[in-house]
Amino acid sequence: MAKIRVGVIGCGGISKSHFGAWQATGYGDVVACCDADEARARERAEAFGVPHVYTDWKELLKRDDIDAVDLCLPHHLHAPAAFDAARARKHVLVEKPIATTLGEAHEMVMACRTAGVKLMVEQSSYFSWTLHAARRLIDGGLIGDRTEITWHRMSSKDVITQAERNMAWKIGKETAGGGALHRDGIHEVYALRFAAGAEPTRVTAEGGTYVWPIELETTAHAIYRFANGCMATLVVSWSAQGAGDRGRVIYGTKGAVTLGGNRLQLHSEQAGLEEATLRGLVGEPAPLALSQADGVWTVEAPKVAGGITAAVDAFARAVAEDTELPVTGVDGLRALEMVIGAYRSAEEGRAISLPIVAL
Ligand SMILES: NC(=O)c1ccc[n+]([C@@H]2O[C@H](COP(=O)([O-])OP(=O)(O)OC[C@H]3O[C@@H](n4cnc5c(N)ncnc54)[C@H](O)[C@@H]3O)[C@@H](O)[C@H]2O)c1
Repeated sequence: MAKIRVGVIGCGGISKSHFGAWQATGYGDVVACCDADEARARERAEAFGVPHVYTDWKELLKRDDIDAVDLCLPHHLHAPAAFDAARARKHVLVEKPIATTLGEAHEMVMACRTAGVKLMVEQSSYFSWTLHAARRLIDGGLIGDRTEITWHRMSSKDVITQAERNMAWKIGKETAGGGALHRDGIHEVYALRFAAGAEPTRVTAEGGTYVWPIELETTAHAIYRFANGCMATLVVSWSAQGAGDRGRVIYGTKGAVTLGGNRLQLHSEQAGLEEATLRGLVGEPAPLALSQADGVWTVEAPKVAGGITAAVDAFARAVAEDTELPVTGVDGLRALEMVIGAYRSAEEGRAISLPIVAL
């Protein structure tokens, strides 16, 4: 199978993980990279052995030997770069969030459809072994019907110092699109939607700006209702001083699943539950360890590539083999809707129905 040839556009902070992921995958090679800051592009090119360097993505897109681009750009440039890539008939992998607005996201989906190229959003949170294992246990009926979900990502993120290090775009409304919910919460929203196992139908939210003097929200508290009847509370914060914390619990009529980084815990009321049943539901790759104490099962994740490494590999494979993407542009649009819907709810003081965009 021929490897695909790729151009990475945007050589800032997160691109390092992307270049590493492209080195790791067997499905593609980076042949060119681009950054408006030439020194940055050259630094990455030297470190990762990339032969061609550009400062203007339109020039990179003129190359006939490039099949796809990997966009690691500030949020407001995702859409214009994706439009140009689609016009040049290049498949597109774009960092999360898909765009700053729903209008841009919708146009990106349409432009790629029209051009007949694939559009994938790099939603690294989806590529988590524990998330998928939890979903399989829940789909296997071990906690009954989903009832409620609590999900939080609390951090004290010094967004001012970060912005001063050449990243002012991250705290501007026009350039970032939103604050804690848009930039970091999009990871949580995406995983939450997958864990809920249904599409969201309504959101009610409040936001606030604390600690950091910026024009964006530093915290958002949102309540989602899903089509299968379950509800979820999501809290994402950059202003949780002194007590960073993450928590993900999915409750059902007969138990609960708690998700940690590399492990999950299952509280199930199913009588006579056996290890073999759990192993059968979790499937391959098998957990590193599985144990039970006081009626609670602990499942340890195996050492498998996740996050950006897995996302880049999945994109490259789907393009190389012309198969379905695990995270499409439409998925990215639906996740952004959960963020924009929450903003609208907070602004208008009412519940917002989802979906917002008809496709
Ligand atoms: N998946 C994750 O966990 C994760 C983590 C961090 C960032 N991100 C996402 O990655 C993307 C980039 O974030 P970052 O932290 O790398 O930002 P960054 O500011 O470090 O990098 C952006 C790069 O784009 C370049 N650039 C700006 N305008 C350009 C133009 N017109 N043409 C070419 N290059 C241009 C900048 O010079 C900079 O090098 C964002 O979408 C962000 O949300 C994802």
